Amino acid sequence: MADPFAEWQINERDYPQHGTPEERLRFLLGYAILAPSGHNTQPWLFQLRPDGVDLIADRTRCLPVVDPFDRALVISCGAALGHLCTAMRFYGVEPDVRLLPDALDADLLAHVAFGADVRPSSRDVARFRAITRRRTTRKHYPEEPLPDGLAQALHADAAAEGCELAIVSDLEQRRAIAALVAEGDRAQFRNPAFRRELASWVHSRRASSRDGMSGAAFGMPDVLSAVGGLVIRTFDMGDRQGATDEAIATGSPALLVLGTRADDPRAWLAAGMALSSILLDVTAAGWTSAYLNQPVETDALRPRLGEAAGIAGHPQLLFRIGRAEPGEPAVRRPVHEVLHEPAQV
Ligand SMILES: Cc1cc2nc3c(=O)[nH]c(=O)nc-3n(C[C@H](O)[C@H](O)[C@H](O)COP(=O)(O)O)c2cc1C
Repeated sequence: MADPFAEWQINERDYPQHGTPEERLRFLLGYAILAPSGHNTQPWLFQLRPDGVDLIADRTRCLPVVDPFDRALVISCGAALGHLCTAMRFYGVEPDVRLLPDALDADLLAHVAFGADVRPSSRDVARFRAITRRRTTRKHYPEEPLPDGLAQALHADAAAEGCELAIVSDLEQRRAIAALVAEGDRAQFRNPAFRRELASWVHSRRASSRDGMSGAAFGMPDVLSAVGGLVIRTFDMGDRQGATDEAIATGSPALLVLGTRADDPRAWLAAGMALSSILLDVTAAGWTSAYLNQPVETDALRPRLGEAAGIAGHPQLLFRIGRAEPGEPAVRRPVHEVLHEPAQV
């Protein structure tokens, strides 16, 4: 069987520095595809152009129940764009990004061209090296203060994309947010369509598709992936605590809420790019992260989450950060599978 994690073994020394722009972009996309995505749907396609690459939303990979407006789908594509930009800077090129360049084509999310030569900063280098080490880690994290300087760095990451970030460490405030997560969990798991959609993206890593989530991502043996419909997505099943308020509030030193002023595709792309920088900085600091998006996905709870976190705009993502042994990576589709070949006419 081919190594299901081969895409994570990309070697930075293999960059074709003197290759054609197309060869360089193909290599750089190997980092873009390591971005996180809702249910690991990897809803992105790329089309190589003479002057760069287009990022296209693959709406066949949508999640109509949990994400009816493709909000998380576009955020995921924004995260892939953020990873691509980080990789370009590492190799000395400033990315020249145009978001939503064609008003008549809502699927064309961005065009990225090679811009001016740049010398990567130490932060660019640290972020780049974090790409292959970043994981979503659904375990409990011990209570401990954030590493020095991390909070400031994460606020700057959000601000750089015009987003707002709340970092919630206060226990009472975490409890209030955790209660919303638990309420969201109950609402979602009551809905059979939600459970069926989640189950359809939980499958063994030995499955031929290189997408979705293995049961291993939830602390189950991979062979139990078939019972994915039972999975509680917040914590590993080994804890048997499910999404209790207490477990979430005390199992994470900080809860992060990323918000945007608008709630449209441009804002979602910005949120995805901010997410990419934030997660890579968290990883570079030796910490890890996991999502608790239930209150963002439940209409009645979304404004309450904003209030609880002190966010003025629209909450887009809720996740927690802390320290834990990272698990195995999640599978990825190889670059050649996400290259869009235009129809021949
Ligand atoms: C927009 C977005 C929403 C996500 N929502 C959740 C979530 O609510 N619960 C969860 O456990 N993981 C969530 N994830 C994490 C994905 O499941 C994860 O990125 C994917 O399985 C790939 O694994 P990796 O991040 O370890 O590469 C989300 C990721 C993104 C980008």
